[in-house]
Amino acid sequence: MIRKLLQSSLVGLLSLNIGALGAAEVKPEDAVEYRQSVYTLIKWNFAPIGAMVKGQVPYDAAAVARHAAFLETLSKMPLEGFTPGSDVGDTKAKPEIWKNRQEFEKLMGDFQEQVNKLNQVAGSGSQTAVKEQFGATAKSCKNCHDKFRKE
Ligand code: HEC
Repeated sequence: MIRKLLQSSLVGLLSLNIGALGAAEVKPEDAVEYRQSVYTLIKWNFAPIGAMVKGQVPYDAAAVARHAAFLETLSKMPLEGFTPGSDVGDTKAKPEIWKNRQEFEKLMGDFQEQVNKLNQVAGSGSQTAVKEQFGATAKSCKNCHDKFRKE
């Protein structure tokens, strides 16, 4: 009996420990906030390039280069925010992200590649090349949103 009790409290302690480990991991709502914040920064840096290549505001090569350089770093940040179990709460992430992780990571990789090219052409000074590559990058955003983001 005592042995049984001891055993079950040991099991209890063990699972407490696992629970504490779990709590030390990122909370789903923090992961959601993190990735949404990164996407807000991505939009902040991406939109002005669009406005310039569309002629809505005067073209400023230095600003394009700065935004593109920030984007290259930012593009590497969202993935780690899609932690296991964070398809809950105030999020537009579809559960398919966690069911079809390979496809999601492939689209994330495509996007990083397009942003990388955008950063390269931003330094070349060719407005036409930037315009083209802006379009290709925007398409990589849309490809993922269409599949993995709720309306
Ligand atoms: C590989 C997938 C993927 C790519 C690529 C991607 N997004 Fe997203 N984006 C998402 C998902 C999923 C969400 C929803 C996140 C959430 O609500 O938890 C999102 C949300 C957003 C949001 C809303 C953030 C908020 O505050 O709720 C913006 C803005 C955004 N993306 C812009 C962009 C732009 C601009 C690009 C391209 C330059 C891009 N995204 C590329 C998947 C992607």
